[in-house]
Amino acid sequence: MDRYAVFGNPIGQSKSPFIHSQFAVQCAQQMQYEAILAPVDGFADSWHHFVASGGKGGNVTVPFKQQAYQLAETLSARAQLAGAVNTLYTDRAGKLYGDNTDGIGLVHDLTRLNIDLPGCTVLLVGAGGASRGVIGPLLDAGVSQIVLANRTVDKAQAIAANFDSRVLACGLTDIPQQGYSLIINATSSGLSGGRPDISTQHLKQCQLAYDMVYGAEPTAFMSWAKQHGVTRQADGLGMLVSQAAAAFTIWRGVTPDIAPVMNALKQLLQA
Ligand code: ATR
Repeated sequence: MDRYAVFGNPIGQSKSPFIHSQFAVQCAQQMQYEAILAPVDGFADSWHHFVASGGKGGNVTVPFKQQAYQLAETLSARAQLAGAVNTLYTDRAGKLYGDNTDGIGLVHDLTRLNIDLPGCTVLLVGAGGASRGVIGPLLDAGVSQIVLANRTVDKAQAIAANFDSRVLACGLTDIPQQGYSLIINATSSGLSGGRPDISTQHLKQCQLAYDMVYGAEPTAFMSWAKQHGVTRQADGLGMLVSQAAAAFTIWRGVTPDIAPVMNALKQLLQA
């Protein structure tokens, strides 16, 4: 049976084995998908061991996305732009191919939520790996501007330098007051119950407040946006399942339906 795995440290919290097992059943694919805890300084060895024992492909999560980027022999354009890899497999030429499906996962989820991306002005808060991976795909989807705001402004500037003038870097207190139809929280603040400290001024024209973090309850950022009049909020569960679906399609050549898997995952989170 074809073997796939997600590599991370820690890895116990990963929903990827659940998601891919559901996809496999849904698409009648003979495959198994496991979680592998790789040592923090031993990702490459772990990957090579997996491939030597028959592993076909893998997903990579924190903290190994940059190491997977270094390890890959061929990179997709979006992985190059992201500077990070979340999907690996050996291609027909026998070379290790690295891709990044995080950004396309977000774009697919925003499309599912009926957000009209062409011409959209986006406020993207946070300048870690999560942000970097989604900027290229958002631009490719036609957004007209991305204001990249970060607590530490230098990190936003360093990322914006990889893109054209559609991407503007700033700090959290000097975000241009121009109205944003979409505000995305790409900070890790939600993981500890917090939210980035931005002015409610920026929420005025916001159609959707999107948090890349997800959980059983709405995140602090979602609740705050709702409290200040934003009618729609979403967490990152759809992005998680969509990035997994994109990886599954790359490996297996079939595209799973994400809706039943999202529902199953929601039930799992509530349990
Ligand atoms: P990763 O690369 O895995 O996304 P990271 O590099 O630690 O993780 O980035 C986390 C992001 O969340 C950063 O943009 C961080 O802001 P700083 O660069 O200023 O550290 C942001 N972040 C985390 N907690 C935050 C908080 N409470 N308020 C605002 N931003 C926060």
